[in-house]
Amino acid sequence: MRLGVLTSGGDAPGMNAAIRAVVRQADALGLETFGIRHGFRGLIQGDWSPLKSRDCANILQRGGTILHTARAPEFADPSVRAQAAEGLRAAGLSALVVIGGDGSFRGAEALAREQGIRCAGIPGTIDNDLPGTDRTLGFDTALNTAVEAVDRIRDTASSHERVFLVEVMGRSSGMLAVHTALACGAEFVLYPEAEDDTFEELVHQLKLSAERGKGSSIVIVAEGDQLGSAVAIGDRLQKDFGLDLRVAVLGHIQRGGSPTALDRIWGSRWGSEAVKRLAAGEASFYLGLQEGALVALPLARIQSPAAPPPRELAALLRILAR
Ligand code: F6P
Repeated sequence: MRLGVLTSGGDAPGMNAAIRAVVRQADALGLETFGIRHGFRGLIQGDWSPLKSRDCANILQRGGTILHTARAPEFADPSVRAQAAEGLRAAGLSALVVIGGDGSFRGAEALAREQGIRCAGIPGTIDNDLPGTDRTLGFDTALNTAVEAVDRIRDTASSHERVFLVEVMGRSSGMLAVHTALACGAEFVLYPEAEDDTFEELVHQLKLSAERGKGSSIVIVAEGDQLGSAVAIGDRLQKDFGLDLRVAVLGHIQRGGSPTALDRIWGSRWGSEAVKRLAAGEASFYLGLQEGALVALPLARIQSPAAPPPRELAALLRILAR
């Protein structure tokens, strides 16, 4: 059996750990692995070559992905998927490990259902926004990167007694924002799934902070917040309330860096498990983590919505901000 492995969508620390585990577990089972470059785009173009154990030396601790990644909207077209499957069959590749987020899993699910290419998904996105799994690769690393950055901002915010709005990634998920806020002792967090995410509430919380004698306040803003970007929110606060505030957008530094031990361990476990299940004949699944245990879910489950950040975390943040 020959299998392909690709990384797709936004890169996430821990992807290399998963690639290494796929290649080495396959080798241990006597299977060949082909590395497909640039995600689904490489799958369509037949951009692949054999990947051996030695090719994966010293990548466990590296951020990014040695296979490169891309977003390939053209893969949403069934005729493009049929063409890709033809190429895979011609090269003798009967199974695929897809490391990526929800868009990547949707592509894999359709490929398995329509074309009979056996597909395994490994959750890889710093957003931690996939249904059925408590963790995705890269989340823990990105969270620690954001926390370190906000700690530094806290030093200057408290020296100057300023309000800071710090934007973290998360186009449609507040997971990173809420966890960063709690870990940094932020005064408030704005995130897409929040029900009381209003400008009035933000102003109220900032006033409350000042009344409590706080000279500085930190507000974590998820990139995809309904009130707009941190820059837009900051402009409005400055214009309407004359607040002396600063805005910091953490951006792509959250996607880079050496993966934490947790991201390396889960990359390794999921990579190995994906290969073992494909070798045993499983056809359309993705891996996850539920209450500390490794789980496998049908790829079709990706159609259901991801769980929002636990409400109790945002509630706890408010209690601890006093
Ligand atoms: O999907 C992960 C993510 O980091 C999102 O939080 C963010 O909106 C997006 O990727 C940005 O991706 P890019 O700049 O690579 O298009």
